[in-house]
Amino acid sequence: MILSEICSAAFKKRFGGEPDFLVRAPGRVNLIGEHTDYSDGFVLPMAIDRAVWIALRPRPDRRVAVHALDYGRRASFSLDNFRKRSGWIEYIKGVAYGLQAEGFRLDGWEGVLAGDVPRGAGLSSSAAVEMAAARAFASVSGIAWAPERMARAGQACENRWVGVQSGIMDQMVSAAAKEGHAMFLDCRSLEYEHVPLPEGVAVVVLDTSTRRGLVGSEYNERREQCETAARQLGVRALRDVDWEEFKIKSKKLEGLVLKRARHVVSENQRVLDAVAAMRRGDVERLGLLLNASHASLRDDFEVSSEALNWIVEAAQSQAGCYGARMTGAGFGGCAVALVDGAKLGEFVPAVEAEYRQKSGLEAEVYVCRASAGASVNVS
Ligand code: GLA
Repeated sequence: MILSEICSAAFKKRFGGEPDFLVRAPGRVNLIGEHTDYSDGFVLPMAIDRAVWIALRPRPDRRVAVHALDYGRRASFSLDNFRKRSGWIEYIKGVAYGLQAEGFRLDGWEGVLAGDVPRGAGLSSSAAVEMAAARAFASVSGIAWAPERMARAGQACENRWVGVQSGIMDQMVSAAAKEGHAMFLDCRSLEYEHVPLPEGVAVVVLDTSTRRGLVGSEYNERREQCETAARQLGVRALRDVDWEEFKIKSKKLEGLVLKRARHVVSENQRVLDAVAAMRRGDVERLGLLLNASHASLRDDFEVSSEALNWIVEAAQSQAGCYGARMTGAGFGGCAVALVDGAKLGEFVPAVEAEYRQKSGLEAEVYVCRASAGASVNVS
């Protein structure tokens, strides 16, 4: 059975009767534009064909009751009085908090949730839960789907409820992606354009099978260093400095702050170049930009890991690989590679073998289809 059917069947069993809505929100893989979103910069992610599903129906009593199949647990809270605790339900409470902060009046619901986005792998499993919860609240409360507002509510959940100072990329792409396309997003204005993926090229996710939680201090520390750099350069955010200007102005910076800023400013330029390369079908150039992004994340932003470097090098050295880089927040999790579709058959086992030999670990490698953003089916 596919996940959506599993959710609906479990709903009948747990709550009795049919669910009124079935919502889905995807995880994402970021092609390029890493650690730029919280500096108001540019990103180019795509939604993947792995997602979080909730089968649900409204409740009259302003309570939210969720059974999470992946955890085998049920939890509930009242929309009139909820507090921070710990556990997976916080992501749903946090979205209720974020939506209420956006000014929406919410109604309660009960549902069954399940997903197949690997957790802690850099594929935005938490944003997928948040956008699925947002779609659930929107469905029962009669709220029209406005991706920017829903994404902001998801970001509020991360920033003010869970305590990770993340940007808005993951929620925006989960909320608004288009099938077969990557999403070129300006993280300041939240304007976006859907850019078709090059034909004949496979987007391959390389999971190192190493994990690191995001609530860690490293992410928040990088964000602070970027804010310090912006202050020292006299701009609102690093987005406001372009690469040419940076070469002159960067004399004002030193040490780690200089390195962090150099990554962000150069990465913003790489995103613009990547979009241009995609538009003219120049996959070779796109691949080189991915490679350069990885080097910058490894050397200047220092968010890669030994396992990520090994898997990226294994990918980059294969014939048929245009380029590869770590993806997501880093410190473990996944890399992404662009591979000639005709050479996939050799690419996958070769990378697996080389990575196993270097790390002693088993990688999980899969080809991703670019899927659509959050959706709802009414039954
Ligand atoms: C995490 C955050 C995003 C973004 C990436 C790094 O996925 O949730 O907002 O900052 O890391 O690009």
